[in-house]
Amino acid sequence: MFNEMFFEPVTHKALKFLWKCLKERLKEPNTNISHHQMPAPEAHEKFVGDFVGRQRSGHPYAYWYVITIDAKPIGVTYITRENEIGIFIAKKYRGFGRGRQALRLLMDTHKLTHFKANINPLNERSIRLFMSLGFALISESAVQNCYMLVNRRVNSKG
Ligand SMILES: CC(C)(COP(=O)(O)OP(=O)(O)OC[C@H]1O[C@@H](n2cnc3c(N)ncnc32)[C@H](O)[C@@H]1OP(=O)(O)O)[C@@H](O)C(=O)NCCC(=O)NCCS
Repeated sequence: MFNEMFFEPVTHKALKFLWKCLKERLKEPNTNISHHQMPAPEAHEKFVGDFVGRQRSGHPYAYWYVITIDAKPIGVTYITRENEIGIFIAKKYRGFGRGRQALRLLMDTHKLTHFKANINPLNERSIRLFMSLGFALISESAVQNCYMLVNRRVNSKG
């Protein structure tokens, strides 16, 4: 039986954990599309600060959470203003159903008309996960080396 999962909205408190996740993610080239090298620490701080602070309306992320289990951070997830989902579960917590649990919770919390996911074609684990949650491939970009998957919701609130 799962321990309870919570989403904590990103604040400055999460700076270090988010930095650690970015670092870990860069070591996995097949999972990464958006980042190819670490940002400068100041740029990272500004990106988080802009989300937290007044400039939030111009920030690309509409929602951004640290995923916790028993108050312990295990990963991060977000939805962009374009309805694109991003998720990262720290390596040691993978393979226990947490990714699936977090995506379900995210889509239950935000009942948008549709969700998108941009995924590296070599990232089989992630593609399988998103497809099992109702996502389907809508386009593929050779340039960006990514698949775009979409999940349209029939009974959405918009
Ligand atoms: C993709 C990711 C979120 C999945 O999280 P997870 O907690 O490992 O996944 P789960 O344990 O919930 O498993 C979900 C599905 O992933 C697949 N999966 C899990 N472990 C796997 C493994 N070792 N090998 C292959 N597929 C696996 C299975 O399809 C599984 O479905 P199942 O529950 O029917 O077996 C996680 O691996 C991750 O953070 N990866 C790096 C970042 C990333 O790729 N993000 C997605 C693009 S935005």
